[in-house]
Amino acid sequence: MSDKFYVGYNTVHKLIKGLAAKIESEGFDPDVIVAIGSGGFIPARIMKTFINRPIYAVGISYYGVDRKHKSHPTKIQWIDEVQEQLRGKKVLLIDEVDDTRATLAYCVGELLSYQPEEIAVLVLHNKLKKKDVEFPPEIQKYYPALEIGDIWIKYPWDAEDIDEHTECEKKMLEEMKN
Ligand code: G4P
Ligand code: MG
Repeated sequence: MSDKFYVGYNTVHKLIKGLAAKIESEGFDPDVIVAIGSGGFIPARIMKTFINRPIYAVGISYYGVDRKHKSHPTKIQWIDEVQEQLRGKKVLLIDEVDDTRATLAYCVGELLSYQPEEIAVLVLHNKLKKKDVEFPPEIQKYYPALEIGDIWIKYPWDAEDIDEHTECEKKMLEEMKN
């Protein structure tokens, strides 16, 4: 059994489609999407297919532009020119994974300073583990497509050989059935 959790493009697409249906069924109608790069870019773009809203991209990482590890998340790219446009808006914040929650919570904190009406957080995977930080009470809507254990997830955009990646996912899913 692999110690990695493989996720293919089709799976990503279907997880996002499922979440789009869920937020719609709950009556949540965001004004804008904010994608946290780089992992949130492709999920956010797929979401745009189902809820056609503008995407603002932000880059936050433990690894700054100098690629050195930092003690806290830092902004690589931000949305200074549009921050005013978030005031009073319903924001759908998208990232690929909720791991330690450090990056997500930092981003939420920064976006809240622009006084949006609401921020909902959406991720493909939430790792069920002790988080370094919690979300502030302003976060009332949280949409993880899947909850999984503390295992390393292999996303398709990191694959150098996408056919091999797809095979690994297929094999893993078959093993999980047995
Ligand atoms: P969080 O708030 O979303 O929990 O993120 P955290 O700061 O804990 O994560 C640090 C980095 O590690 C993030 O990358 C995150 O995407 C990545 N990461 C955590 N767990 C996994 C995993 O299981 N698989 C993969 N592929 N990545 C994981 P980042 O600094 O935002 O860079 P980027 O890859 O998004 O560009
Ligand atoms: Mg990321």
